[in-house]
Amino acid sequence: MYATQGAVNTLSDLRRASGAFDRVRSLVQTSDPDPSMYGALPPGAWWEVANGAQPVVEPYADKAGDAAVVAAKGGDLELRNVWFSYPLRADLPVLSDVNLTLRRGTVTALVGRSGAGKSTVAALLSRFYSPQRGAILLGEAEAGSFTRGEWARAIAMVSQEPVLFSGTIADNISYGRFGRCSLEEIQAAAEAANAHEFIKRLPDGYKTVVGERGTLLSGGQRQRIAIARALLKDSPVIILDEATSALDAVSEKLVQEAIQRLVAGRTVLVIAHRLSTVQAADQIVVMANGQIAERGTHEELLAASGPYSELMSSQGMMLGYSV
Ligand SMILES: Nc1ncnc2c1ncn2[C@@H]1O[C@H](COP(=O)(O)OP(=O)(O)OP(=O)(O)O)[C@@H](O)[C@H]1O
Ligand SMILES: [Mg+2]
Repeated sequence: MYATQGAVNTLSDLRRASGAFDRVRSLVQTSDPDPSMYGALPPGAWWEVANGAQPVVEPYADKAGDAAVVAAKGGDLELRNVWFSYPLRADLPVLSDVNLTLRRGTVTALVGRSGAGKSTVAALLSRFYSPQRGAILLGEAEAGSFTRGEWARAIAMVSQEPVLFSGTIADNISYGRFGRCSLEEIQAAAEAANAHEFIKRLPDGYKTVVGERGTLLSGGQRQRIAIARALLKDSPVIILDEATSALDAVSEKLVQEAIQRLVAGRTVLVIAHRLSTVQAADQIVVMANGQIAERGTHEELLAASGPYSELMSSQGMMLGYSV
């Protein structure tokens, strides 16, 4: 039901979505929009459609220029005094006056209780939604000065529940490059993402069809495919919404290693549930009730004995993970 977790940041998601517009448009003319359609639409789009607007089709990322890529390589990504509520629940403030700077080439970890607004921050940075007040800035330029296609080239998102489309594994990985890459490149990305070994053992290898939304693969396998896709995309900004679902120890380690390769040298926001990720971050930001409660390094925040150390002990974030 949460649109943000379907991470619509790739071409075929958008293609499928524009087919869904027609279906939804005919639906909403006779009845209320069906919330179960969210997954098939770019988040927020149902609202425009429900209100009679023609969905805006901007140039897809494969046709877009590299203005946002250049800006992201040269500057920070920032939420400045951002206020946001979801269109469905316009009366409920989800983010209140959020200021967050992702410094170029560094890792920011975002932590906080369930419902604090972490995935919403990721959705705004990906421009799946726009803030009601405040600004999103990339290298001091307003997000709106870049097309969505340019933006999509600059930012790769690995979502909390990665969604694959029902093609082959090779399709799903090469999607990071709009299908324009060789099998060697696909395989190199899969190797770096610790996915090659399990892919090789599948009956059809890279040609294995993953099933509707990737249901024939385990959560850990889907995540590694999503990481391989992001590696191939090679964008300067990575947003990683770590899965909360428990992975077995082996998958956990494989995913962690893949993440380390993915984030090297990039501007990274990781919504972190694992102590290893949190401790290694250049900056930790704690969210509570849609606001930034605290920020600093692991040591600083532990010493402050504030919301961070409280969160650590109450959520047992240190448990269950070997660091
Ligand atoms: N598509 C949506 N429409 C309406 N409200 C939403 C939507 N997505 C999230 N919310 C609400 O916004 C608030 C913040 O949700 P968000 O998903 O950002 O939390 P989170 O910090 O990522 O939580 P978790 O750790 O469980 O993933 C919650 O109250 C949630 O119910
Ligand atoms: Mg979330």
